[in-house]
Amino acid sequence: MNNFDFKIPTDIRFGKEKISCLKEEVSSYGKKVLLVYGGGSIKRNGIYDEVMEQLKDFEVVELSGITPNPKLETVRAGAKLCKEKGIDVIIAVGGGSTIDASKHIAAAACYNGDPWDLVLDRSLVKEALPIAVVLTICATGSEMNSGAVITNEETHEKLEINTPLLYPRLSICDPTYLYSLPKKQTAAGVVDILSHVMEQYFQPNDGAYITDVLSEGVMKTVVKYGPIAMEEPDNYEARSNLMWASTVGLNHLLTVGKGGAWSVHPIEHVVSGFYDLTHGIGLAILTPAWMEYVLNDDTKARFARFAREVFRIIEGDDHKAAKKGIQCVRDFFEKLEMPCTFSEVGIDESKYDKMAKEAVRTSNISKTAYVHLDEKDVIEILKKC
Ligand code: NZQ
Ligand code: ZN
Repeated sequence: MNNFDFKIPTDIRFGKEKISCLKEEVSSYGKKVLLVYGGGSIKRNGIYDEVMEQLKDFEVVELSGITPNPKLETVRAGAKLCKEKGIDVIIAVGGGSTIDASKHIAAAACYNGDPWDLVLDRSLVKEALPIAVVLTICATGSEMNSGAVITNEETHEKLEINTPLLYPRLSICDPTYLYSLPKKQTAAGVVDILSHVMEQYFQPNDGAYITDVLSEGVMKTVVKYGPIAMEEPDNYEARSNLMWASTVGLNHLLTVGKGGAWSVHPIEHVVSGFYDLTHGIGLAILTPAWMEYVLNDDTKARFARFAREVFRIIEGDDHKAAKKGIQCVRDFFEKLEMPCTFSEVGIDESKYDKMAKEAVRTSNISKTAYVHLDEKDVIEILKKC
C-alpha cells in the first residue's frame, strides 16, 4: 500500500429535506450570496423555490445558464459579478457542471488576472470564496472533492483545476432531488460513477486490498441500482444508493494506497472538449475500447478479478473471465441505453491525431497510467470506438 494523506473538509448533509439546514449553515459565511445554476431544471422541479425559501434573509445575486461542460466565459462573468457585488459565499445548485463552474469562480473572484491562468498554474490559487452545494444529479463526485473541469472554447482545451481550497464547505444531497432526472442524465451519471471507480481500481499497485474491496462494493452498487433508477425514477433506495456511490466514488477514499494516472478520463475530456459531448456518453463509448486494448498477460488477472467480483462471472481461466467482464460492461451500458460508437454521436476520424496528441500532452497517461499509452495507442483506442 502506498503512503497517503487523507483529509476531506466537506460537511455532507444527506437525505430527505436536508435543505432545511441551508440557511443556518450559509449564514456563517456572510449575507451576500451568488446563486449559481444551470439551464432551468431547478425551476421546473421546484428545487429553486426550496432554496430561495432558505435564502429569504440573504442578498442573492443569480448566475444562471451554466451549460454542461462549463465554459471559461461563464467563469469570467461569474468572477466579475463576485467582485462587483462583494459576494461572500457561492451556492451551486446542480451537478458537476454547475459545481465546477462555481469552484473556478470562487478562486477567480480572489484573483486579479484571467481565470484561465489558475487552470494553467494551480499555485496561483491563494484563496477562494466558500462554496456550498445543493446536488441535483449524481455523477461526478464534485460535491465532495477539490477538482473542477473547465472548457476553454477558444483552444478546445478541457482541463482540471484542483486545489484543497476548492472543496465545498457544505453539500446537501437529497436523493429525492434526483427524481426529475431524464433517463439520459441518470444513465450518463451511472457510467461516470462506474468509470471513476474503475480508473482508481485499475492501477499498477495491487497491494491496497482494502481500497480494492471498497471499490468493488461501490461498483456492485452502481451495477445493481443503475438500471432500477432508469426504470423507476422515484425509487428512493436506488437514488440514495447511487447518490452516495457518486460521492464516495470520487472523494479520494478509493484512491488511498493506490495512485497513478487515469486512463479513460484524459481521453474523454479531450473528446468532449472538441465535440461538447455529454461526459458519461463519452466514457460509455471509450471504456470498453480501452479495456480491450489494454487486456494482456500482465493485466488479465486484475480484469478477471473485476469480472468475478463486480459481475459475478464464474470462470477459472483469467483471460476468458476478463473477456466476459468486458462484455458485461458493454451489456451494462447497453441496458442503460448509452450509445456505443462514435459514429452514433457524430464523431468521425478527422480529429483523432489532434485528440491523441492533446490527451498525452495534458495528462500523465503515457507515464503513470495502468498501461502506459502514447499517442499511437490513444489513436488505436479511438479507432476501436
Ligand atoms: O442545466 P440544467 O437545466 O440544470 O439541466 C442539467 C443538465 O442539462 C440536468 N439536470 C441536473 N439535475 C437535474 C437535471 N435535470 C432534471 N432534474 C435534475 N434534478 O442534467 C444535465 C447535466 O448536468 P451536468 O451538471 O452537466 O452533469 P454532471 O454532474 O454529469 O457534470 C458533468 C461535468 O462535470 C465534469 C464533466 O467533465 C462535465 O463537464 N466532471 C467533473 C469532475 C469533478 N469535478 O470532479 C470529475 C468528472 O470526471 C467530470 O470530468
Ligand atoms: Zn468523470
